[in-house]
Order: sequence, then structure tokens, then C-alpha cells
Amino acid sequence: MATIIDGKALAARMRERAAADVASLAERGISCGLAVVLVGDDQASATYVRSKLRDCEQCGIRSFDCKLPADTPQDELMALIAELNADPEVTGILVQMPLPAHLDTEAVVLAVDPEKDVDGFHPLNMGRLVRDLPGLRPCTPAGIMEMLDAYGIDPAGKNAVIVGRSSIVGKPMSLMLLSRNATISVAHSHTDPRELARICQSADILVAACGVPKMIKGPWVKPGATVIDVGMDRDEEGRLCGDVDFASAEAVAGAITPVPGGVGPMTRAMLMTNVVMAARLQHGL
Ligand code: GUN
Repeated sequence: MATIIDGKALAARMRERAAADVASLAERGISCGLAVVLVGDDQASATYVRSKLRDCEQCGIRSFDCKLPADTPQDELMALIAELNADPEVTGILVQMPLPAHLDTEAVVLAVDPEKDVDGFHPLNMGRLVRDLPGLRPCTPAGIMEMLDAYGIDPAGKNAVIVGRSSIVGKPMSLMLLSRNATISVAHSHTDPRELARICQSADILVAACGVPKMIKGPWVKPGATVIDVGMDRDEEGRLCGDVDFASAEAVAGAITPVPGGVGPMTRAMLMTNVVMAARLQHGL
């Protein structure tokens, strides 16, 4: 039976640490504020945003809830971001993705002040990641690195397989594991499906971030491997599940993250950590 990686408990500890950091910054006259921008009324996005705002409250971070209608034109969104960039009370800016199709996501990502980019999506922060320089890192892969460290799973010299190559998870995840000296393979929608099982079976650390419910089955998991499930999907019965078929993978893995209670809470906790880091950066600390 695998060790179940308790993301919920770890995230609670991270939030406590972030709250303590927020308090000690406040003593020095530095306040932390997160602006969350949501365009449109996608239900899943609205739910994520609500939990982020709740986390802020718990950590003593002031939050700015910026909701815009789905048909907001590009220039209005850009004007809002310029305003938030210039506001010293706002030390972190998060624009919830995905944006409605008529908006230019790249232009929006570029417009956010890199020092306030708590998502780590700006090319400057991505470039810092590529170059192994310190900086704001995307929350999901950074949260996963925290989980591995907390459970004593050292990526050095291990085979890591990442299924999925998104800019939010797959690509930055592969770079973070690479910088910790893992050997990396990235599988994606163009990977030969006949090869996929074999590639996954080579993984000592398997990160599933493909967005396909229960795609990774037990026989694809190397005995004793660490399995990290980034998925937030629904199964045929409409129940929340991950990209990993938990029941069959758990029987083979050495350690595995559950859905819910694994990666999700860590992503949110890492956002709080990034808000603190961004505030420090802006004050030269
Ligand atoms: N949509 C899904 N994940 C994320 C995330 O980490 N950040 C933002 N801004 N949007 C998302």
C-alpha cells in the first residue's frame, strides 16, 4: 500500500507559515495585498477564486476582488492591470485563466508587473526558471516540489515523467525537476499512444497533468514510484477524480497524492507563499 501524500495537512502548515510572515512584514510597515481578476462567469473559475480570497483572509493578506463581465474588451482589462501595477497596496496580481476567447492572454500575461506576478507566468519569471535563478514560480509545480521535499523524495538521479506540457504545469514542472537533477521525459497529446505505457513505467516520479480522467492506470506505474496527480476531473458518474486511476495506482505506487486533498490545496497555499515573496521583492528584502 502506498503512502498517501497529505496535501491538505501540508498546505495548512504552509498557510500558517505565510500568516506568520505576513504578520512580521506588517510589523515593518509592509502590507501584503492580492488582486484576483476574474473575467466572465465560468463556474469552476469562480469557485477557485472564492477559495483564493478565503485563503487570503486566513493569512492576513488583504484581497482585491476584481470581477469583470465576460464581454470586457481587451483595453479595459489592460487598463485595470495598469492600475493594479501602479497601486502600492497591491503586491500580487493573479488573472484567473482561462480568459474568454476574444481576449489576448499573452498580452495580459506580459502586462502584469513581473514583481507582482504571483502566478510566475510572465516571460521574465519563466526565463528565471529556465536559467535556475531565484524568482516567482508557478504555484502548482512549486507546490509539488514542496510535497516531494516534505516526504523526503529527492528527485536527484531519478527518472521523472510528466504527462502534459501546459505552460501552467507541465513545462515549469519539468524545469523544476530538471534543476533538482532528475532525468526528465515529457509526454503529451502527440506522444505515440503505444509508447505511453512504457514511458510511464520508466518513471520513479510520475506527474499526471493531462486533464484526462483516470488516464494513468496501475499497470503504467512502476512499483514503488511516486505518483503526483494534478488532475481535477469528473468521472462518468460526475464525481471529482484525477488524471490517475487512484484505486489501481495506489496498489503499486510507493507514494501517491489523492484527489481531492493532494495537489489542489498545495497550489493554493503556494499562492500565499508567493504573495509574501512578491511583497518582500517589492521592498528589496
Ligand atoms: N487556472 C488554472 N490554474 C491556474 C493558476 O494556477 N493560475 C491562474 N491564474 N489561473 C489558473
